[in-house]
Amino acid sequence: MSKVFVYGMAVKGDNFTDREKETRRLKLNFENGINTILISPRRIGKTSVVQKAISSMQDHPDVITVYMDIYDCRSEYDFYNRFAAAIIQQTASRADQWLENAKTFLSRITPKIAMSGLGPNNEFALYLGLTPETHSPEEILNLPEAISKKRGKQIVVCIDEFQQIGEMPNSLTLQKRMRGVWQHQENCSYCLCGSKKHLMTNLFQNRRMPFYQFGEMIMLDKIPAPDWISYIQNRFESRGKTISLEYCQKICEATDCYSSYVQQLAWNVFAETEEVVDETAFNNGIEALLAQTSALFQQQIAALSTFQMNMLRAILAGHHSKFTSQDLMSQFNLGSKSNIAKLTSSLIEKELIERRPDGLYFADPVFALWFAKDQSAM
Ligand SMILES: Nc1ncnc2c1ncn2[C@@H]1O[C@H](COP(=O)(O)OP(=O)(O)OP(=O)(O)O)[C@@H](O)[C@H]1O
Ligand SMILES: [Mg+2]
Repeated sequence: MSKVFVYGMAVKGDNFTDREKETRRLKLNFENGINTILISPRRIGKTSVVQKAISSMQDHPDVITVYMDIYDCRSEYDFYNRFAAAIIQQTASRADQWLENAKTFLSRITPKIAMSGLGPNNEFALYLGLTPETHSPEEILNLPEAISKKRGKQIVVCIDEFQQIGEMPNSLTLQKRMRGVWQHQENCSYCLCGSKKHLMTNLFQNRRMPFYQFGEMIMLDKIPAPDWISYIQNRFESRGKTISLEYCQKICEATDCYSSYVQQLAWNVFAETEEVVDETAFNNGIEALLAQTSALFQQQIAALSTFQMNMLRAILAGHHSKFTSQDLMSQFNLGSKSNIAKLTSSLIEKELIERRPDGLYFADPVFALWFAKDQSAM
């Protein structure tokens, strides 16, 4: 049975809305071997849209798609082990071919299939145990091309949470190795997804970095309010409840159309509603959302300095630029003029604020609501 609303995990089926243009574009890139870089803030829907595009390729006669998530890879060889295992598993048509394929394409190994632990997709996990002593980076990075030639099919490798590469100890060397090997591959293409915009854009938009101009860059936007409105109304109707256009709009406004928050707030409002959404149900839904997110936000601001907090207070008061003016600096106690640039970049790095064409704003709409409430209670 499909769920009414879903948040906190990639969505599909009835819980996936819109994204037609992006899905079509990703599919076209997959079919034509175009490298793609997909960037958005957290929880906007990268994983969902990539998986949607992958599922649309399921029966493709000439292209195999491989998906992996590297959020927990901390070192170069962590990454290589995840990379190779995902490719071996997902290019084999049956699980009983994994060991054979692993031995064929990566010599000198004794792979194990873990019978106890399940892998991320509820499959058995494949452990290859690759180390610098047994396998060179180049050999591993070339694995998809080798398999592709043998199978006579193109391979598209999707790597999710790619910003993790930028956090590894020898990141630059690793990036040079990847780019060096991948750019010569004729039958493989890559789709690299990530959040933390400053990390991702540094990897891909900085001329001095190896991945500069590696592929087509897609900045995944928010899903527009009209799509959310019909989605929310349909989901309520599917369970025999009613929500007016006005309350759908209010859900979109409160969450600024941030995908995960739209679904979370819609679910909260749904849970507060017997039959028809009213003001009390909506307000209770918002209260619940703030309660659910409060611990995380508390933790985020607990780590801030007084000046950083004061900068947030200035933004809350409606100021978005001219922070170095004498007025603002003294009204909000922002420290010295020379400190403002550092304050700004540290808050951007923490993803608490973002730079828009007309100045600095809170990056997270629910944080903005929570912070306003928190400050007014002081
Ligand atoms: N196309 C969509 N239709 C409906 N809801 C969506 C869609 N895409 C994302 N969402 C909502 O956003 C949530 C997060 O989606 P997803 O995990 O795909 O985002 P993400 O950008 O990969 O997040 P993260 O940055 O945490 O990896 C989902 O659980 C769902 O609530
Ligand atoms: Mg994701």
